[in-house]
Amino acid sequence: MKKGILGLTAALVLGLTAACGSEGTSSGGDTTIGISMPTQSSERWVNDGNNMVEEFEELGYDTDLQYGEDVVEDQVSQIENMITEGVDALVIAPIDGEALTNVLDMAENSNIPVISYDRLIMNHDHVSYYATFDNFEVGVIQGEYIEENIGLDEGEGPFTIELFAGSPDDNNAYFFWDGAMSVLEPYIESGDFEVRSGQTNFDQAATPQWSGSDAQERMDNILSSDYSNEEVDIVYSPFDGISLGVISSLKSVGYGTEEQPLPLITGQDADSSSVQSIIDGEQTMTIFKDTRALADKAVEMVDAVLKEEEAEVNDTETYDNGEKVVPSNLLEPVPVDEDNYEEVLIESGYYSKEDFDM
Ligand code: BGC
Repeated sequence: MKKGILGLTAALVLGLTAACGSEGTSSGGDTTIGISMPTQSSERWVNDGNNMVEEFEELGYDTDLQYGEDVVEDQVSQIENMITEGVDALVIAPIDGEALTNVLDMAENSNIPVISYDRLIMNHDHVSYYATFDNFEVGVIQGEYIEENIGLDEGEGPFTIELFAGSPDDNNAYFFWDGAMSVLEPYIESGDFEVRSGQTNFDQAATPQWSGSDAQERMDNILSSDYSNEEVDIVYSPFDGISLGVISSLKSVGYGTEEQPLPLITGQDADSSSVQSIIDGEQTMTIFKDTRALADKAVEMVDAVLKEEEAEVNDTETYDNGEKVVPSNLLEPVPVDEDNYEEVLIESGYYSKEDFDM
């Protein structure tokens, strides 16, 4: 945007931010990047937002960071406001990937480039790039962790397993599920893994808005209907918030003791409460997705687009949003459990020792 209107715009952005009650950031510079994140209820998105603000500002960009707090309409109106305020580019992690068609029309008409962040924006061709992790691989790693650690090798089993999926409005949820099922399904078919609830398809296992309390409630129901005289050995969970909800449910009926240990339970994001849970011997593993590296990628993409250069990508096939295959950069997810959390999360500086009760 032009210098002359910067002061006014910054004032409007700050005013608007205060009115919406969400996080807003602004500093000196000529070009403003609107950053629209889904929620502050899970730590990773707070880190994603803060990392991007820091990195954009290092390059001299202004930022306007807002969180939709899992309310689709709020995210849409926050983005509309950013467009009206004249941001120069948008980085969006959608709450509902299919709800942004009108607002992307607006961005397109105003020549504001859009980068899809972590989650894919569906059904619109005005998405320049997609910065994310290898989402199918996340599911594969979670599935393989179960396969390798439950004792199949030692000829143990059969095992009981219950399955959770993510939010049906998030394209990633299908990738995690498909990746995990590519490993787990053969064991379900062979009878090595028994899903006593019978809830084996995505729709039955889905957790709208990735809600930990909904997952807890679903687990309560499964435990009372299907596990009155049997124990759960494994819970496949795609996300730390779901894992903690499931763990609360299990503990409420007596799991978590020597006689009745918690099942092997997966997760994703390495949120600090789940890392603490791993240290405490409750959640078994999580997936670390370095939000610093993802922020780097998104910032590189925005910078390239604004300079009319090409950004570096490593995947031009996988992420078809219904209108185009969005050129993507996929980062590597890393499994974390009690054996490697210090090396991966603390020695890398992502967390410090003081963040945990070790
Ligand atoms: C992200 C995951 C996260 C989930 C819930 C997904 O789109 O890729 O990292 O666990 O949303 O916030």
